[in-house]
Amino acid sequence: MDIGQLMFREGLLTGERILVTGGGTGLGREMSEAFLKLGAEVHICGRRQNRLDETAGELTQAHGGTVIGHACDIRDPEAIAAMVDSIWEHGPLTGLVNNAAGNFVSRTEDLSVNGFNAISDIVFRGTFYVTLDVGKRLIAQNLPGNFLSILTTWVWNGGPFVVPSAMSKAGLNAMTQSLAVEWGRYGMRFNAIAPGLFPTDGMSARLSPGGRGGNSHDEMNPMGRHGEMHELANLAAFLMGPGAGWVNGQTIAIDGGGFQAHGGNFYGALKDLGDEEWNAMRQMIEGTNAADKADRST
Ligand code: HXC
Repeated sequence: MDIGQLMFREGLLTGERILVTGGGTGLGREMSEAFLKLGAEVHICGRRQNRLDETAGELTQAHGGTVIGHACDIRDPEAIAAMVDSIWEHGPLTGLVNNAAGNFVSRTEDLSVNGFNAISDIVFRGTFYVTLDVGKRLIAQNLPGNFLSILTTWVWNGGPFVVPSAMSKAGLNAMTQSLAVEWGRYGMRFNAIAPGLFPTDGMSARLSPGGRGGNSHDEMNPMGRHGEMHELANLAAFLMGPGAGWVNGQTIAIDGGGFQAHGGNFYGALKDLGDEEWNAMRQMIEGTNAADKADRST
């Protein structure tokens, strides 16, 4: 991201301490960079310490400030508690960005229970565990907090061929709306962003293996393109910023109008694929999953 494309003044987020789940890569890294550039102390978590250290080093070298990487699998509530303990030792968080996700395209009839759980344990359960842990601590200390979840436009119309992700993210949309009301009285805000296509390595490998699926949407988008990272970062910085204090309970799409034009999902791109193409895509996805696992074990 060209950080010069940020809309906000330097220092906007000074004094903020923000945890970005999945902040080592992809959209999480981009938002973390923007928060850092705007003065926040940034904590990033993910499953690969090597990747987190790399990102933290690169970002602080470019912009100064503080980025701390925490190896933490958000499927594990005890690991979350240990991470948040270690953050809290130096003071409370002021913000949490629920960005970590897992996803792959599949015909639903090809999924096993394990396949469903691989996604929903991260997206649906893991995100709730982090939100609950941070929220409880803020309530106990009578502190406000700012929560932002990265969803998709599928929360409004479903996600054929990505059903575990669509179900999980729709659940998080309900969490956003519910806690905005229930915890509003504690001074906590809950909002979400529903991005259209912002291609990342993690996404392309699993949602568009071999070029089918997710990334084939550009020409169908009303604006003829996918999103630019600084556009997402600007919206995230706005929602995490001090001037947005009365924005609460909202899920805001940033997709160039793709949702209105074609529903924003993968139905059109994937509906006509046959067994052979699905098997080939599955093999590519499983190859990516295996490579990621090997990377995590190093
Ligand atoms: C069917 C599959 C499959 C496939 C795996 N499985 N790939 N089933 N089709 N293509 C099944 C396996 O057979 C196994 O079930 C189960 O899923 C778990 O497989 P693992 O290889 O052990 O997977 P695991 O490594 O635990 O998790 C997979 C993962 C992971 C969740 C995708 O790789 C991950 O954490 N990815 C993070 C990065 C990521 O996905 N980024 C994309 C996010 S994009 P059995 O029954 O055989 O044991 C996004 C939103 C995009 O979220 C929005 C766009 C608009």
